[in-house]
Amino acid sequence: MLKKRPGIVVREMEIDDLAAVFHLGEKLFTARSVPNLYRTWDEHEIVQLFDSDRELCLVAESDDRIVGFALGTTVEKDRSAWKYGLLTWMGVAPDLQRAGVGDRLFRQIRERMEKMGVNMMIIDTESDNLPGLHFFRKLGFGKPEEHIYLSLNLSGQKKAGNHKKENGST
Ligand SMILES: CC(C)(COP(=O)(O)OP(=O)(O)OC[C@H]1O[C@@H](n2cnc3c(N)ncnc32)[C@H](O)[C@@H]1OP(=O)(O)O)[C@@H](O)C(=O)NCCC(=O)NCCS
Repeated sequence: MLKKRPGIVVREMEIDDLAAVFHLGEKLFTARSVPNLYRTWDEHEIVQLFDSDRELCLVAESDDRIVGFALGTTVEKDRSAWKYGLLTWMGVAPDLQRAGVGDRLFRQIRERMEKMGVNMMIIDTESDNLPGLHFFRKLGFGKPEEHIYLSLNLSGQKKAGNHKKENGST
């Protein structure tokens, strides 16, 4: 199949793009249940990254329409010479996926991170996000580290504790 070759411009996100990026992300990330367990796709997330890491907030535009985004940040740890670049959120409009837009966004954010002294890029996605995993593997990401998230539902805990006391048990 011939690849679509849309006229795409990749550029830094601007204040007027925030709503379009937010709505595109809503489409992409609510279709998948929880793309990232400890971050939520909401307007605060975008505004925060835009405020703290503007040079790592990129959009792809085609015919005045926002068709993709890559949002990142950097992290330095105490007593470590390494600087990490987190590619926190990335997405491409469904009708333009597999047309090289993600690749272009990634290359630009990577170049910017390299200039900022980043030694290692990190991404985080669900283990069943196969398109995402294919995409990142093709770009050279490897060594997946598995994390298991455990949860403790505190809303039910109080009741259970009170019930025990009422019954005189410890
Ligand atoms: C992951 C994502 C950003 C990729 O963007 P894209 O613009 O479609 O990617 P590209 O067209 O640049 O693809 C580059 C390469 O990645 C691989 N790839 C991308 N999508 C793929 C898919 N659905 N299946 C298999 N391989 C895929 C291919 O090797 C592709 O090269 P090829 O088309 O020459 O074979 C896009 O699928 C997306 O928005 N997904 C939903 C959001 C998401 O999961 N984000 C990542 C976690 S935050």
